[in-house]
Amino acid sequence: MRFSVSSSTLRLLMSACLALALSFAAPLAMPDAAQAGHGDKAPAKRGILLVAFGTSVPEAVQAIDAIQEQAEEAFPGVPVRLAYSSKIIRDKIAKEGIVKKSPAQALADMAAEGFTQVAVQSLHAIPGREYSDITATAAAFQAMPKGIRQVSVGRPLLYSFADIATAADMVLKSLPAHKKGEGVLLMGHGTNHPANAAYAALQLALWKHDKSVFIATVEDTPGLGEVIPELKRQGIRKVFLVPMMSVAGDHALNDMAGKESDSWASRLTAAGIKSEPVLVGLGSRPAVAGLWIDHLRDAVKELDK
Ligand code: CO
Repeated sequence: MRFSVSSSTLRLLMSACLALALSFAAPLAMPDAAQAGHGDKAPAKRGILLVAFGTSVPEAVQAIDAIQEQAEEAFPGVPVRLAYSSKIIRDKIAKEGIVKKSPAQALADMAAEGFTQVAVQSLHAIPGREYSDITATAAAFQAMPKGIRQVSVGRPLLYSFADIATAADMVLKSLPAHKKGEGVLLMGHGTNHPANAAYAALQLALWKHDKSVFIATVEDTPGLGEVIPELKRQGIRKVFLVPMMSVAGDHALNDMAGKESDSWASRLTAAGIKSEPVLVGLGSRPAVAGLWIDHLRDAVKELDK
């Protein structure tokens, strides 16, 4: 991992981010209002659907609840529903008697309840597979006869380069104060989907303000192994470990802060770097969670068009 970024590398990165943003920016077509029957249009009824990845950790749910509360405060009188996009999580918690709807189930129920316009907000970090599934589901529901007339989708946290820059600012403001010789290491999820490039863009945006704040991912690049040499090069002897995910769930508790030898905490210890986990999800950081609400505001505006 290199710190001196040449202007040509920077231009390349920026154009890659722009291309990434544009590839996901195709707006959903908004067909004319469907007729409810006998020539009468169903009365307009607006709703919001938040879609989180979900979590199987009971204590982590409060971060999702906090985002839902922010949405309810931002849109008084508009019902706010919640779905989990992860089938694995839904199936796992169902065994403990906790039933969460999929985005499709939630939209089908909202259609049955007579909602005519729904703004769906992704509570994911990057425009990866979970997000593209949401846009496909939303488009399918909007095309359904006698279904919901309009379904708009709010973009995830790290979507455009501007979103990434704003997210970096808000994340930095919410981080624990760190002295010289200390750093912060954010844990993103990571994916082999091309949207994984958002993490590299986030790193660039973070370094504009603070060279001792790093992002690595659990599942893809950059990995912890790429960051450790840079921590050493900077003489950082202690890092705060902070999840860059909506919740401090299973990845934060186990892959980040766990006791196993392959957890980030253990690998850092083995490399001679102390660590202190901060088990707070982004949903519980109001300034960061507010960015999802800003994106929801844009999705609600789409319904006015
Ligand atoms: Co995962």
